[in-house]
Amino acid sequence: MAAFTELVFSGVQPTGNLHLGNYLGAVKRFVEMQERDAQCLYCVVDMHAITVWQDPEALRGQIREVTAAFLAAGIDPKRAIVFNQSQVPQHAELAWIFNCVARLGWLNRMTQFKEKAGKDRENASIGLYDYPVLMAADILAYRATHVPVGEDQKQHLELTRDIAQKFNTDFSGSIAAHGHGEAFFPMTEPLIGGPAARVMSLRDGSKKMSKSDPSDNARINLTDEADTIAQKIRRAKTDSEPLPSEIAGLKERPEADNLVGIYAALAGITREEVLRDFGGAQFSTFKPALADLAVASLAPIAGEMRRLTADPGHIDAVLADGAGRAETIAAQTLDAVKDIVGFVRRSPNLQAVR
Ligand code: TYM
Repeated sequence: MAAFTELVFSGVQPTGNLHLGNYLGAVKRFVEMQERDAQCLYCVVDMHAITVWQDPEALRGQIREVTAAFLAAGIDPKRAIVFNQSQVPQHAELAWIFNCVARLGWLNRMTQFKEKAGKDRENASIGLYDYPVLMAADILAYRATHVPVGEDQKQHLELTRDIAQKFNTDFSGSIAAHGHGEAFFPMTEPLIGGPAARVMSLRDGSKKMSKSDPSDNARINLTDEADTIAQKIRRAKTDSEPLPSEIAGLKERPEADNLVGIYAALAGITREEVLRDFGGAQFSTFKPALADLAVASLAPIAGEMRRLTADPGHIDAVLADGAGRAETIAAQTLDAVKDIVGFVRRSPNLQAVR
């Protein structure tokens, strides 16, 4: 592998309905990361997906669809490593070791588990509870330095740092003895930010745009046709005031703030710049401009996704190539981790037992 100064890792679940929040909060930023001096790894996290029930046939299609979305958005599978999690066994292996490092009390504080498990917590899968530990393993199997994600993943990334820190402390003697200096795992930096770190529902500015919202009008799906995109924006909930000229004027106006943020993220500008152009405008002016911008940005991606998903053989070849390259890195980490923890590894130089 070439020597990069940064290693970027991120993941997206293949749970259907990839939406504008996933695109602006994550995938679009994955594409931008390719311009940095970084090795980027982008993973379709199928093992995370099965923490809640997935129909097997649908899951296979969804894994290919997320991969197609990565490529259609502009991720170059020659430069970045694009793969699905279940093809690289080191993720699960490291997750087990981290299960023995992470503390129950830490996981008990995870808000996403509480939201997803709801009232029927006794009936949630153990995988759903353990989800953030597998996520730490995803990131640290590559000793990633940077992780671009939306704001909803912040707490999980803090847990990743806690696990890295505890591993480094618990095994400090062994880490030094094996020639890794003072710390084996980095303190991974979350990259959360920009105007679309938290895209909200188009029907309710207090709720996050999400795959599981029962109303399809609450989100723009990456596979929506141009007409549907324009219609959903036209129908998006707003108040009756014109747009303010200053950012402070968006306070207490969550729906307006959300649409301005979406415009800014799609155009690659700041909220302030959007208000410079549209301050004083009514939504009857702003919404059509936003719809045009959204259609111009998203329709080509949807078209390219359709083209790519029609050829699953090509997608599977991209995933297999990515998995091979990912495993080369992850296997080195796991060999070192096994030495540090005190496992006896199978040596390639051992003679067969007679
Ligand atoms: P997932 O599949 O729920 O979402 C994928 C990415 O989209 C972001 N996102 C949003 N950003 C802005 N506004 C929204 N409304 C919105 N909804 C979703 C998410 O923050 C995420 O970046 N746990 C992760 C997947 C994962 C992962 C990892 C990520 C597994 N292992 C390792 C980073 C590193 C998840 O459920 O994402």
